[in-house]
Amino acid sequence: SIVPVIICGGAGSRLWPLSRENHPKPLIRLGDGLSLIQHALLRAIALPGVSDLITVTNRDLFFAIEDEYRQLGLDLGRSRFLLEPVGRNTAAAIAVASLEAAETLGGEAILCVLPADHMIADTPALVKAVEQAAVLAGKGRIVTFGIKPTQPETGYGYIEADRTDVVRFVEKPDEATAREYIASSRFLWNSGMFCFQAKTMMEGMEEHCPDILSACRESLEKARRSAGEDSDQVLLDGQAFAHARADSIDYAVLEKAPNVSVVACDIGWNDIGSWSALGEQFESDDSGNRIHGVVSAVGSHGNVVRGSNRLIGLVGVDDLVVADTPDALLVASREHAQDVRLLYNRLKDAG
Ligand code: GDD
Ligand code: MG
Repeated sequence: SIVPVIICGGAGSRLWPLSRENHPKPLIRLGDGLSLIQHALLRAIALPGVSDLITVTNRDLFFAIEDEYRQLGLDLGRSRFLLEPVGRNTAAAIAVASLEAAETLGGEAILCVLPADHMIADTPALVKAVEQAAVLAGKGRIVTFGIKPTQPETGYGYIEADRTDVVRFVEKPDEATAREYIASSRFLWNSGMFCFQAKTMMEGMEEHCPDILSACRESLEKARRSAGEDSDQVLLDGQAFAHARADSIDYAVLEKAPNVSVVACDIGWNDIGSWSALGEQFESDDSGNRIHGVVSAVGSHGNVVRGSNRLIGLVGVDDLVVADTPDALLVASREHAQDVRLLYNRLKDAG
């Protein structure tokens, strides 16, 4: 059986003002009325032979996420939360999930890490890919899911593949390197999902980032001692967890481990990394405007518009992003949608 691990953290700075520090990208609602984290949960329970569900997230997001889950009205079986007192990036989040699963379900338990911040259009294809991955995971591999790249994106990890063997894993290369990778056609994008046995990940971390593993182990043991054995919510010990070095699983383990495999898959994956990508999830009008909310457009084309509780009118403008929220309004050109991150950082620095 497979244990889905939903990881949710990070700010989603490129989707400001819809995503904020206390309202990160996974809580964003799409055109279908469901949030990204609800989609992640639906993917999780669609996996073959799901038994337990683990969610790793910040303690401040617990109620919001629990609420998102409850709104779907599903029977989740055994679902537990590992709550982080501070964000320590994905290596620590995956470490605590692996330690928890090994402790409660045994080291052979197969985990499938599902990020809560992207979309997968073709769930049946995902299920097939996970079935394939689980077989490799059972043989001691850490399995990544490779997506055929379409442009030299610098925000992703790249996997050089020889069938299911990973020759090389490179996290977030610069643009020139990404261009070379795309041209060589031996590379796939890392989708950010992973499948492995709990013990395989723990062994990999013991080898490549023992400091992160031991800080996480301590934070979990201390938390268990105060929470009691079968609590479904574990608040990780703050002092111990704060000592975990903040690093992503991609740098901490995947770039270094020799036992990484890849399942190439065509699953309709979309990282929703920018307003343009989010807009692709909205409905399109006759002029190619992507719209979510009450919007009236005259002589305007190719805009991405996200309203909140008031009417938005557009006249004679093309290729803009307009995102309205009760306390902040974004107007950007689609071409510069990636730079919303710069604005976010400036606002954050200004307090
Ligand atoms: N619990 C928890 N705690 N989750 C976290 C934390 C944290 O501190 N930081 C990030 N996450 C979650 C995010 O919510 C997201 O679902 C996932 O982990 C990945 O983190 P990102 O911060 O979004 O990573 P990225 O987009 O820069 O890069 C990763 O994803 C790319 C594809 O989307 C890498 O795995 C890349 O290699 C990959 O191509
Ligand atoms: Mg991401």
